[in-house]
Amino acid sequence: MKEFLNIALPKGRLGEKVYAMFESVGYDCPSIRENNRKLIFENETVGVRYFWVKPSDVTIYVERGAADVGVAGKDILLEYTPDVYELLDMKTGNCRMAVAAPVGFRDDPARTLRVATKFSNIARNYYSEQGREIDMIKLNGSIELAPILGLSDVIVDIVETGTTLRENRLEVVETIIPISARLIANKASYQFKNEQIRRLTERIEQKLSEAES
Ligand code: PRP
Repeated sequence: MKEFLNIALPKGRLGEKVYAMFESVGYDCPSIRENNRKLIFENETVGVRYFWVKPSDVTIYVERGAADVGVAGKDILLEYTPDVYELLDMKTGNCRMAVAAPVGFRDDPARTLRVATKFSNIARNYYSEQGREIDMIKLNGSIELAPILGLSDVIVDIVETGTTLRENRLEVVETIIPISARLIANKASYQFKNEQIRRLTERIEQKLSEAES
């Protein structure tokens, strides 16, 4: 019997786009489109098993081998530096990691900057490269509230369309790094299921290059 290739998909909008990409290169699993409470879906003919996991947990499943491959944002890879192989930029889920502040904010470089973020490692590295002293305020969501309520001076967060910033009278001050979704693999699976993983990677690469030309 053929061994399944186990794929962790990030639940939500990104996961749906990414699944459509897998489907279009022959890794379809029709039941995934029919049931929205189930978390595991298999297509025995193709030899693929998908799991829906929380986007920030994809790297945990892949690093520990519960999934052979998965799709995670570059933001998660930079923040948690999991011990996995990064195989491919999937050129989707494009956004950027940025510093944002209330419109009209003027920074005083002589003062410690209060930074609210979910991405404390990314923020710490960014400011330490600049030799800037910061007071880190780690939050878990709705980061945009922090400078509005005077909890922080700036935020470090994901900006996609810019709508959340605009609606809260914030603006981008600096872009730290562009972000997109990456195909990642468990290191042992990459040895033991090398042919399956390479075939999947090549097909997606091919699809992406067709889309570009
Ligand atoms: C992310 C991010 C911003 C928003 C940016 O939040 O933290 O709040 O998306 O998108 P936009 O530029 O298109 O408005 P998410 O929805 O992941 O929720 P969070 O509040 O838990 O961070």
